[in-house]
Amino acid sequence: MRIVLGVAGGIAAYKACHVIRRLRELGHTVKVVPTEAALRFVGAATFEALSGETVTSDLFDEVDTVNHVRIGQEADLVVIAPATANTVARIAAGLADDLLTATVLTTTAEVVVAPAMHTEMWQNPATVANIATLRARGVHVLDPAVGRLTGPDSGPGRLPEPEDIVDFALAASSAAVGSTGSAAEQTPTEHTPAGASSAGRTASPLAGRRVVISAGGTREALDPVRFLGNRSSGKQGIALARAADAAGARVELVAANVDSGLLQTLPATVDVTEVESTLELAEAMRRAQPDADVIVMAAAVADYRPADRAGAKMKKSGDEGLTISLVQNPDILAGLVSTRKRDQTIVGFAAETGDDRHSAYDYAREKLVRKGVDLLVFNDVSGDRAFGHDDTEVHVLAAAEAGIDELGAFSGSKDDVSQKVVAVIGEHMR
Ligand code: C5P
Repeated sequence: MRIVLGVAGGIAAYKACHVIRRLRELGHTVKVVPTEAALRFVGAATFEALSGETVTSDLFDEVDTVNHVRIGQEADLVVIAPATANTVARIAAGLADDLLTATVLTTTAEVVVAPAMHTEMWQNPATVANIATLRARGVHVLDPAVGRLTGPDSGPGRLPEPEDIVDFALAASSAAVGSTGSAAEQTPTEHTPAGASSAGRTASPLAGRRVVISAGGTREALDPVRFLGNRSSGKQGIALARAADAAGARVELVAANVDSGLLQTLPATVDVTEVESTLELAEAMRRAQPDADVIVMAAAVADYRPADRAGAKMKKSGDEGLTISLVQNPDILAGLVSTRKRDQTIVGFAAETGDDRHSAYDYAREKLVRKGVDLLVFNDVSGDRAFGHDDTEVHVLAAAEAGIDELGAFSGSKDDVSQKVVAVIGEHMR
């Protein structure tokens, strides 16, 4: 993409350098358009060296190329980081008195604004009204972080970290593409139960968050060539990883025996860790947990493993049958719940079948409580309905103060259902 990075004149202007670098690492071209004040914090030479393009703040430079409209017209995305109270106000007022504001006024691309200012300025009714104006026009505003400001002050107003700005901006851009693109590319915000007022123009709460998803089915080795396994293909977990990635999350997929062709359908931005057994999966999840904002256990995990693994291929002997002794595997999900961080959302999956005493739904409700997860995605697999198929039907249950809430029932392709489940997870995090 061709991304215009607007930089306004605040102390956080230096962080724009990291934003440029990150965007270029991801393969985007970056045209930096600073305000005059920004150039008092970071020199044009620095921006030019990092972006590889000429840099000016002046409307009257390169007049022959009609710079003041061309830059905005050619942009696929405009990101302003940091945006000062003054720049926010000028954009809200529709001014075009420098190259940055003229660019914003000309562009039809998505505009992302990352404000940074002192808390008093951020909370001033003038700024509050200006931000509301921008949001009402469909500008994506990334709320400032809370923390150390210039001098001894601290509070809300700090510019978020460059990676978070990049993740938010790219998610906003892909969300907008999704809102005009194919159904498969629809954005999570279009599916949020609460409903966004301007669908597709609000970034998902998952943007920039670390989401760790397990997928596939574990295999428990009997000997070097044989294993006990299950029929899980990993399609559901892969679809969830794709949906979370499209929502701007930083995704790690822990894949248990997922076909390599299926893994290749993942965007390159998804980190993949391959495992085989339940103990390997448990270890990978344990390592991933400290950084995770969301953990989704979609893998089908073997409850038991052979007590002994033969070092060499087991030989048939005599005419008798063979008795294999099994020991219980740890419940990975229960372990993750017991060591959860504050604000970590943990999502379990349950493939249930009913019997003559209870429905599959009853068993799912009981499992949600027993496992202590925040959300349980349950499907009725009576008659092998879900394994290996492209379509599925799920209910998303949540633990609530007054019992259990059903947050949604979705059916369709695993990709469609995953987008809806990811949207529900995002809403839950809000
Ligand atoms: O008890 P059940 O296997 O139906 O629970 C399903 C959920 O628990 C899934 O999210 C699955 O990934 C997880 N699980 C686990 N460790 C096990 C068994 C299941 O994490 N040993």
